[in-house]
Amino acid sequence: MSDIKYLPGKEPHPRERRLIFKNIDRDGWDTSIACYLGDGGYEQLKAALGMEPNAITEEVKKSGLRGRGGAGFPTGIKWGFIPPNNTKPVYLICNCDESEPGTFKDRYIVHQDPHQLIEGMVISAYAVGAHTAYIYMREEFPEAAQIMEQAIAEAREKNFVGKNILGSGFDLEIYVHRGAGAYICGEETGLIESLEGKRPYPRIKPPYFPAALGLYMAPTIVNNVESLCHVKHIIAMGGDTYASLGVPRNTGTRILCVSGDVKKPGYYEVEVGKITMGELLNDICGGPKDGRTFRAVIPGGSSAKIMKCDESYTINNPDGTKRELTFYDIPMDFDTIAACGSMAGSGGVIVMDDSRKISWVLNNLNHFYAHESCGQCTPCREGSMWMRKISDRIVSGRATPEDVQTLEDVAYQIDGRTVCAFGEASSWPVEAIIDKFRDELVAETSEDNEYLSAEAKQQLQYISQ
Ligand SMILES: Cc1cc2nc3c(=O)[nH]c(=O)nc-3n(C[C@H](O)[C@H](O)[C@H](O)COP(=O)(O)O)c2cc1C
Ligand code: SF4
Repeated sequence: MSDIKYLPGKEPHPRERRLIFKNIDRDGWDTSIACYLGDGGYEQLKAALGMEPNAITEEVKKSGLRGRGGAGFPTGIKWGFIPPNNTKPVYLICNCDESEPGTFKDRYIVHQDPHQLIEGMVISAYAVGAHTAYIYMREEFPEAAQIMEQAIAEAREKNFVGKNILGSGFDLEIYVHRGAGAYICGEETGLIESLEGKRPYPRIKPPYFPAALGLYMAPTIVNNVESLCHVKHIIAMGGDTYASLGVPRNTGTRILCVSGDVKKPGYYEVEVGKITMGELLNDICGGPKDGRTFRAVIPGGSSAKIMKCDESYTINNPDGTKRELTFYDIPMDFDTIAACGSMAGSGGVIVMDDSRKISWVLNNLNHFYAHESCGQCTPCREGSMWMRKISDRIVSGRATPEDVQTLEDVAYQIDGRTVCAFGEASSWPVEAIIDKFRDELVAETSEDNEYLSAEAKQQLQYISQ
């Protein structure tokens, strides 16, 4: 990579290890197939078509690749869930809905390196036996849809897509499907419903795990844009070599999207778990803005639980011993962030400094989730709206101390009681913010507020006597 030149000011940080973003902001790079072929493009597809499909899945399993869309589920294992006796068509869907607040990596791949995604998709489709693939493109990405259509047309002309790809006998059509403009269309079963032309109400799992019962009730593999691009690199270097990047169980590279109160926000592709939170925020992102200190971080997109920068944790080592670490010591991998009570999610790291009022953060999140609930199930539909109404009262100085408790109760009544994981996505941030900043929220409330019920007022008087 050393001979690659990047646009001035867009050079990767020395701590980065770029696979997927190798061509992003590269000097002289464009989205044409000629440019991609000039850089060795589609060579991995040629190699993959010479392999048995199962052998590709085995390489992906060996690589340890975990999905980059949010849940971090192992990609090769997901592919292996297609029923062996299946007689229906198999579908591959690339999830390019990218609507998790704080996440902005997939759009760069599509905008600047669409052929990398096509190559990853054709290899993946060949591995899972799909002859039809869809790119479900976020509605707000109109330019990306055009770029993708153009790239697919170019790939078809060169016979990398279409009938009898490169004489292998393998056929694949790829279609771009424009999304319906809702966050829930990124949830894989909501996405599938939307792709079928319906309202994107998520399906209940079990039984509707897409790998068994997906699009048109046929086996369907849904993978994130970044995950599918990694497949090309796994073929290029082999599963074992890929697995040597990163740390055990958390292999390869991943793109971290850092936004908020740091000197240098942006996207950074790093080996998973090879840098700590402190290195990311202070070294790579340049530290806090002048005169400010870091206060809190949401490490994996808005659905991840907030972490305070002065926290420390005791976690279990794989050998059963315990380990103490501060917030800044946390390696940026799936397992450690989970052990510290949050999640690496979609890689969207949202940073807040001491200028941020936490009630405002809470209310901002609640507005998003109340707006985006699909409304199919009652705890989420009603609960997300109640949470928003309560935090509206907190930020506007109309709340009572009782409201903070009610807000927490509502969150726990949503969590674990809904059709899809949106329920947790909306309630976890609230639970964590109240857990960690309760005093601050209560300090913004008043017992004399007009919204306090007569009964609650009586109780408070009784307590204070
Ligand atoms: C509410 C909600 C929104 C989601 N939005 C996205 C999204 O925009 N993009 C994405 O790749 N995955 C999203 N996911 C995760 C998908 O359901 C699915 O797990 C993912 O696309 C699988 O790809 P992967 O295995 O490659 O990570 C979302 C999940 C939930 C619950
Ligand atoms: S949890 Fe929310 S988003 Fe998911 S199905 Fe229920 S109402 Fe819809």
